[in-house]
Amino acid sequence: MAGPTTKKKFRSQEWFDNPDNPGMTALYLERYLNYGLTRAELQSGKPLIGIAQTGSDLSPCNRHHLDLAKRVRAGIEAAGGIPFEFPCHPIQETGKRPTASLDRNLAYLSLVEVLYGYPLDGVVLTVGCDKTTPAMLMAAATVNIPAIALSVGPMLNGWHKGKRTGSGTIVWESRQRLSAGEIGYDEFMDIVASSAPSVGYCNTMGTATTMNSLAEALGMQLPGSAAIPAPYRERGQIAYETGKRIVGMVHEDLKPSDIMTRQAFENAIVVNSAIGGSTNAPIHLNAIARHLGVKLDNDDWQAIGHRIPLLVNLQPAGEYLGEDYHHAGGVPAVVMELMKAGLLPHPAALTVNGASIGDNCRGVENLDHKVIRPAADPLMRDAGFINLKGNLFDSAIMKTSVISKEFRDRYLSNPKDPEAFEGRAVVFDGPEDYHARIDDPAENIDEYCVLFMRGAGPVGYPGGAEVVNMQPPAYLIKRGIHSLPCIGDGRQSGTSGTPSILNASPEAAVGGGLALLKSGDRVRIDLNKGSADILIDEEELAARRKALAGDGGYAFPGHQTPWQEIQRSMVDQFSEGMVLKPAVKYQ
Ligand code: FES
Ligand code: MG
Repeated sequence: MAGPTTKKKFRSQEWFDNPDNPGMTALYLERYLNYGLTRAELQSGKPLIGIAQTGSDLSPCNRHHLDLAKRVRAGIEAAGGIPFEFPCHPIQETGKRPTASLDRNLAYLSLVEVLYGYPLDGVVLTVGCDKTTPAMLMAAATVNIPAIALSVGPMLNGWHKGKRTGSGTIVWESRQRLSAGEIGYDEFMDIVASSAPSVGYCNTMGTATTMNSLAEALGMQLPGSAAIPAPYRERGQIAYETGKRIVGMVHEDLKPSDIMTRQAFENAIVVNSAIGGSTNAPIHLNAIARHLGVKLDNDDWQAIGHRIPLLVNLQPAGEYLGEDYHHAGGVPAVVMELMKAGLLPHPAALTVNGASIGDNCRGVENLDHKVIRPAADPLMRDAGFINLKGNLFDSAIMKTSVISKEFRDRYLSNPKDPEAFEGRAVVFDGPEDYHARIDDPAENIDEYCVLFMRGAGPVGYPGGAEVVNMQPPAYLIKRGIHSLPCIGDGRQSGTSGTPSILNASPEAAVGGGLALLKSGDRVRIDLNKGSADILIDEEELAARRKALAGDGGYAFPGHQTPWQEIQRSMVDQFSEGMVLKPAVKYQ
């Protein structure tokens, strides 16, 4: 063991203070002096801490990190570190075409190169908008230097005419009212704009609040930090504490692989059910796990998560928004309620502050039982995901916490066949095809149809589109039918309350069962058995498979950019985390 007088040598000193190679050291060093750093600082032996900056004018959800980084710097310096802020590839969920998820792996790759190739001893990951969180955690997993996440925090609650308006969720609701002729274009725009009242990310339990909560549940950010709204003073204060803490983590050599263990992922799956988390979470957590060499798949999500109750009453599964979640106690209050009921599998899992998640959360109070329910009085029992399988796909996720009463009454309440339904398939090849045909009376869509979206997976779209939550034809909405069963190889927004069957893997574009489906086929979904099948025999399926192969496989649009082509050539399916296959071996 190092004695008290032995000074730890950090990785950055290989760049900046290596007397064995003065030429390289001088070259590495001199340019970092040109804006005022001194040689004494860079050769002082202090740890160099990166601030991976995801905020920019192109990324409004994360833009507040540009301000928060000042507090992070102050924290790093106060603890005896030297901050180096650098930009990350922007990933704005709502602004990027064709889809932000195309860029998750690009941001991952670029951050891996930065963390590996520059003199950094630790890093603060500025996370927030949906894919920024997994991209940063995946890179930290691959390079495995000490890392801590800092959420930018949700926006304040949105309000319109005395009612809470939540990010995304209000769009899905209001577009139904627009289709039904209840509101006009201008009012629609005003209502939607009211849901974005401040800096920060989506204030609903969409993918952003989910992934930030799970980053905390995994142990990768300071306890209590995920839920603090972006404009609150506590947000700047936790930024300062985060900066201070990463310096300690570097001294302790506390690495992502020490924190994000199989136990931590199991905790995160349980927390995801309790918060009513996004269907994008399995894609992202499976990806982070793969980059760490931790085994995790969608069977684990059902086995560990399905029986967990829904505790957090946030839209889209419930009624409240981000400020309410924070006031009630955020992630620590949820974890405390789970522990009280004996539902958190691994209270001893380590977190970034050096204490276990159990020790961090045990004494915490749940300050609003309307927003965070005790486990004995949940919003819903068995609120986790179901992992469905059959001749349609090997794996697809259904979020049971958003199954509405209307949906359950119509499709899941046949006394002879509960939890199962059959219907006539109506198949769409991508979102454009859906928009062109959904309202066409010739399609003859009624409430006994099942809508299918294919060509929307990681290869087909590319990156995987959030398009499976398909609204029924306007004439059905006017009759009071607000959702039809939807199934697809794409994703849906975490802010959507549609109980779709999503992320089907393998996707049509790589020859999955969805590519064999035809409009008019009967399909059967059984939630009890976890099955999803086209009701045709094996010979007919084989004949269709042969015909598809003869046609050169399922056709999808061409590449628009070099990255689309590169990613398509090496990306894995949603159930496997949508990772770049060659990247997984770098651990
Ligand atoms: Fe960025 Fe929802 S769009 S967090
Ligand atoms: Mg989204």
